Amino acid sequence: MHWKKAMVTGGAGFIGSHIVGELLKRGTEVVSIDNYLSGSPLNLVEYKDNPLFKEVVCDVRSRGTLKKYIKDVEVIFHEAASKKTICLKDPRMDLDINGKGTFNLLELARDHGVKKFVHASTGSVYGEGYIFPQTEDHPLNPTSYYGVSKLAGEKYVRAFNHLYGLDTTVLRYFHVYGSRQNWTDTGGVVPIFIRKMINKEPVEIFGDGTQQRSFTYVQDVVNANMMVCERKNSTGQAYNCASGINVTIKELVDSISRIMKVEPNIQYKPWAVGDIKVFSIDNMKIRSLGFDFKTSFDNGLRETIRWMIATKGQGRF
Ligand SMILES: NC(=O)c1ccc[n+]([C@@H]2O[C@H](COP(=O)([O-])OP(=O)(O)OC[C@H]3O[C@@H](n4cnc5c(N)ncnc54)[C@H](O)[C@@H]3O)[C@@H](O)[C@H]2O)c1
Repeated sequence: MHWKKAMVTGGAGFIGSHIVGELLKRGTEVVSIDNYLSGSPLNLVEYKDNPLFKEVVCDVRSRGTLKKYIKDVEVIFHEAASKKTICLKDPRMDLDINGKGTFNLLELARDHGVKKFVHASTGSVYGEGYIFPQTEDHPLNPTSYYGVSKLAGEKYVRAFNHLYGLDTTVLRYFHVYGSRQNWTDTGGVVPIFIRKMINKEPVEIFGDGTQQRSFTYVQDVVNANMMVCERKNSTGQAYNCASGINVTIKELVDSISRIMKVEPNIQYKPWAVGDIKVFSIDNMKIRSLGFDFKTSFDNGLRETIRWMIATKGQGRF
């Protein structure tokens, strides 16, 4: 599918900036919308001289400001969100961004003839899983403010599809990792562990390290976003966007250590409250569209480590 013009919200974030890059590579004009709550202009540096690219500082809570940039947009990739660490501090802001912000974009999409709306959701909409492996039909009982507000966004997406026939697809992401991910202590476990091993700091494992995560490489997530635009039968649907690669936290440390050839100084700490021990995600539905998660865990890790070492987190550690 070739789009003339796309809007990527959260374009300065980890996943959003990779979507921006992919679209530019495909010759699509891209407007990035971000308020830099957790994103960084450094994530967009390599695109800033591209004549097809426009970087806008804009908050998805502001419908009036968003409206200025919607002209001729054919597709929206909605990645902007207030994430877990922020949600705990300010759940009201969270609801505003993840709920109302999504509503604003859907209204604009409906009123301005946007042809496709791809919505970034999360495995957190399920809450604690109890039917394994978890399919998209698993009950949705989020147990965090983040999960509740993201589910509100998802439900608005569904309503706009149902009420107005807006062509929408929801992708529920799980443990995405890769370059440009936040490596500070509030970021993702993969870059945090890599940073600690680069800096020869102790690597803290909460519990005994047997908790599993369903790691998915960022380029596979980008490819899934592009792919659903090509499949008419993805309209109105929600998909688990998870690689199916299940790795324990101890195995993650061992893999990074093997690739970097660094002996980790592991410190075991008490289990974190609410830590989920097992993720077993069914990805058959997205695979049935002919999609494949192509990146092996080793290759994804190698690429992430390469980026971290080469850039030292974009020169920030
Ligand atoms: N990374 C993961 O493992 C993961 C897992 C599940 C779901 N998700 C979802 O994927 C999407 C992208 O997440 P990410 O990991 O790239 O996080 P990120 O924090 O790097 O990106 C989110 C971006 O949204 C921007 N933003 C926040 N509030 C905004 C607002 N009011 N207006 C405009 N921009 C705003 C931030 O500044 C940031 O650039 C989010 O919707 C998130 O819920 C991510």
